[in-house]
This record gives sequence, structure tokens and C-alpha cells, in this order.
Amino acid sequence: MPPSRPRDLTWEEYGEGCRLLPAFRGGLMLIPLPRRTRWYTKGSPKDLLRPWRRQHDEIGLRESLPADDTDVFPKIMKTTISLATPAELETESLVAVVLDHAESAANENEKEKDKKPQLKVATVDPAVQSVAADLLASGEVAGKPFETNLMHRPVTLMAKRLLLVSGGSAKKFSSYDLRRIAGTAVRALKSRGIRSFAFVVPPSIPVEEAVRAIVEGAHVGNFDPDYYRSDRKDQKIDALTVVASGDEATLKKAANEAQIIGESQNFTRDLVNEPSNRMTPTILGERAKKMSAEVGLKCEVYGADKIKELKMGAFWSVAQGSDEPPALIVMRYEPAGAPEKPVLGLVGKGITFDTGGISIKPADGMEKMKYDMAGGATMIGAMRAIALLKPKVKVIGIVCATENMPSGKAQKPGDVQIAMSGKSIEIINTDAEGRLVLADGLYYARQLGCTHLVDAATLTGAVVVALGYNNAGIFANDDDMYNRFHSANAKAGEKMWRMPLDDEYKEHIRSGIADIVNSGGRWGGAITAAMFLKEFAEDTPWIHLDIAGTAWMEDQKPWIAKGPSGIALRSLIEFVKSFAG
Ligand code: BES
Ligand code: MN
Ligand code: ZN
Repeated sequence: MPPSRPRDLTWEEYGEGCRLLPAFRGGLMLIPLPRRTRWYTKGSPKDLLRPWRRQHDEIGLRESLPADDTDVFPKIMKTTISLATPAELETESLVAVVLDHAESAANENEKEKDKKPQLKVATVDPAVQSVAADLLASGEVAGKPFETNLMHRPVTLMAKRLLLVSGGSAKKFSSYDLRRIAGTAVRALKSRGIRSFAFVVPPSIPVEEAVRAIVEGAHVGNFDPDYYRSDRKDQKIDALTVVASGDEATLKKAANEAQIIGESQNFTRDLVNEPSNRMTPTILGERAKKMSAEVGLKCEVYGADKIKELKMGAFWSVAQGSDEPPALIVMRYEPAGAPEKPVLGLVGKGITFDTGGISIKPADGMEKMKYDMAGGATMIGAMRAIALLKPKVKVIGIVCATENMPSGKAQKPGDVQIAMSGKSIEIINTDAEGRLVLADGLYYARQLGCTHLVDAATLTGAVVVALGYNNAGIFANDDDMYNRFHSANAKAGEKMWRMPLDDEYKEHIRSGIADIVNSGGRWGGAITAAMFLKEFAEDTPWIHLDIAGTAWMEDQKPWIAKGPSGIALRSLIEFVKSFAG
């Protein structure tokens, strides 16, 4: 049955909170709708208790209800470790990796293109090897990465099916590839309506690392963004068995941790996927609160009053133009037994829609600007994973959430704003809003005692020009921080490329009337944006991640759907863990 969706409710069913007709908000006419004391729902009585709907009631959105995450998004993929021999395992489908050994075996004189593939299943189980041998020798399988072949009723195996996924060259094969192979297996099987499978760990990768990669990659593959399609198919993998040999307790721990990370990454993607009418700053704040309550984090969500009280002039300058209230989300993880220092600050850009403001964007592609809160969503997802993984280090997550809208109240080019730090900013372009909200977010994090800062933001189109869609931009004011983050990238299997932050670039953000301008112009746009942020990190060790080109998959891949990617979350977790000893 397709999940019940918010739009199944009629206007009347929206209830008390929507007493004002949206079109007249702020206008002269206030049209009362009948008050309702109870909901009329099509679902179970449980629906009555859903905080979502009540929360919506209180805030009275203009257009529609927020999506109900408990309906739409598959939360749990049950993950187990099996120490059985692959051939003995009863499962809907066994999945094994096929690797090409041609390169390692080839004669030195043979040219690359003349090499015939030498395909072997990556397992020590001879039964699995032999059942696939004829197919692999037939010449029908090229062995190119992500190629899939499905065999039914493989003789001598207890499994109903054997899915072979090619991993390319055996010599180059790493856990980075394995993660994607696992995602590919999930997507190949779930599209056939299969709901559970068992993945055979390839022996060439250290077993714990392999288990993590498989579980994380499988979660990534299990996500699909088609929430509001009436014909959305209920296709997902419910159960994953990882077939490995080693110490069971160690492998179980690895699988559990990877599951937490995979689920958190999908939690982030879920937030990013929602359109801006269903993911306002208020709703983002509520989602952060709900998650925090579930995992035991402290969470405060502040509104416009607090933002003004804190003198966050840069953040407020963006928020002032929107009818939708802003939200300053502060999540705290303070585990017992953690040292006083360091305190890590994770600061996210949470623009729930970026029109550009008065410096309005062209219509073409503007719909994509719903994902301009991806940096913020990444920090919320990261805090979830941190709370569940329990590293012994203090972490504070801060998200500055607002829309960037043109209106009679919106800021204008030429305006001068005073940031929380006291620095004055001349607004050149109201579309350079991300750095404004982050300026105050970073400064506030330092005031709360953060000793190390990381921010993540879909900050510039320029980073996409520089690095394309395959690497996020990474900026650092401190080499130790950079090195630490770089190791985290490698462990997490995420690609990021360091960009420069030399003092010379500072001249691009000089202003004639104020301390700095908010736009350094076209050339080196990702760098000048980072230079702007650096003014607010000052001497606190700091990393800036520009994820504008990587937070949204422009096309689907065999291992991941088109849509939100959840980039940076896994690296952030590895980074935080590296401080916990
Ligand atoms: N949110 C955009 C950056 C962006 C672009 C994110 C493409 C994702 C995909 C950001 O707020 C922005 O508008 N940046 C401007 C800055 C310019 C006005 C200095 C840009 O990159 O054009
Ligand atoms: Mn913008
Ligand atoms: Zn933006």
C-alpha cells in the first residue's frame, strides 16, 4: 500500500493552526476558519499523537503540512553478521563481488587493451567460485565496475539466487569501491522486489573495514527520493546479512556503528529532500528537536527574538526578508567523562530556500535551491550519529536556518550590516547569503566555547566550476586540522579537495564603507567566500566544506539515487572520532 501522504488531507483537516488563509497573511483580511478540536484522519489513532501534525497546528503554515517522516522514509534495515560458509546460507540472494585479475597476471608486453579479463569471484568459498565459473568464463561478462549478473537457483548453494557485482580491477579494489558495490547490490535487488540478501565479504580487504563499507554502502543504496509520487513503489531492503569470518563481537560492533552512520546519512538526505514548503526553518528546528529527544541530545531552537538579542546582524539581515520565521538550532553533546577541551563546533548553513533575495536568481533551476540547507541537515544528521556512537568528546551543533527571500522587508545591495562579532559588512549581493548566516553561526560557536570549528555549506556556484560534482571543496586556516580531516575523508570514502586561502585573496573582500563586502565577485568565488568566513573563525582552528556541487546527485548512479547525497556526514563522524582517542 502506498504510504499515506500529507496532501491526502484537505484544508479543513488542517485544523486549528491554519485559521488564517495564507494569501491574506500580513494583509488586511483575516479570514477565520472553523476551529476544530480533534483531527479527522484516515489513519490509525496513532496519527492523532503524531507531534508533526500538532506542531504544524501550532505554527500554522501557509501552504501545506510537513511531510511525515514516519510514513515515508524506511528507517530500519536489519543488519546481521554471519560466520557461516556462503554456500550454506539460506537467503533470497547471495551477493558476491567479481574482480578482474588480468592486470596482475598479464604479461608485461601485453598492451592494456588487449588483456582479456580474468574474472574471479572474490571469496574463499570454492562452491561459490565454481557455481559462477562457467558464466565468468563465457565471455558474456565484461567485468566492468557495477556490472550485475543474476543467477537463479545456483546449484550447490542454499541461496535462491546469486547476484554477481563486478568491482573492476582486483589490484585497485578498495573499500571505497566496495561501498559502492554494496549500494549497487541493494539497488539491483530492490528494483526486482527482493527484500533481503547476504553479502559475501571479499577477502582482499581487512574484514572490519569491509563490513563497515558494505553496511554503509547498502544504506546509501536503500534511499529513494520519490516521496510524493502517487505510484511510489514500496521497494526497499529490510534485512542485510554480512557473511564474514573473524571475531564475531568485533564484526558486530563494526556493523552496528556503520548502521548508525548509514541511517544518519539517510536522515540527513530525508531532510534535504523535502521541498521548501515542507521544510521551513521552523520544521527543520522541530525535526532537530524530535531527533535530539530520541537520541538524548540537548537541543534548543531559538527564533527571531533571540537572534536579535544576540546581535546576530548578519544572520538577521537574511532572515528579515522572509515571512517564514528563522530558527537558530543548537544541539549539544556533552558525554560524561569527556575532557573539558576540545569542544568541537559543527556549524551548518540552513537556507531552506534561496531565491537570491533582491539580487534574485534566474528562474532556470531555481527549484534546486531547496537543497541550500544541506549543510545544516548534515550537521543535524552528524549530531544524531555522534549521540548514538558516544565518542568521549564534546560537540556542539549549530544550524542557522532561514529562507532568503525578496520582499519589502528584505535587505538591499549597499546595505551595511553589523555581525555579532562587531565586524561591519557591506552587502554587495543579497544572493551571497550563506556566508552571512555562517558568519554569526561561527562566531556564536566560539562564544559557546568551541575550540575547533567545522562548517558545511552549499556556499558557492564557483566551487562547482572549480571542482565539478566529484569533489567537495575543503578550506582550512590550520594545517593540522586539514590533515586530520583529510584522514577522515579517506576512512569515510568521501572525496574532497583542498583549496587555497592565501592572504592575497583578502583584497577582494575589502569595502570602501565597511570592514568587508559580502561578495568578492566572480573570480575565485569559492575562495573569496571562504576568506569571508575566515574573518569570523579568526584564530580558532577551522575547516570549511563547500558542498554546493556534491550535496545533490545530478544523475542517478548504480549505487545511489538521483537527489540528496548526504556528503560530508561520514567524514565528520570520523573527524569527531579522531578527537576521542
Ligand atoms: N546557494 C548558493 C550557492 C549554490 C549554487 C548552491 C549552486 C548550490 C548550487 C549561494 O547562496 C549563492 O547564491 N552563491 C552565489 C554567490 C555570489 C552571489 C557571490 C553564487 O555562487 O553565485
Ligand atoms: Mn544565494
Ligand atoms: Zn545559498
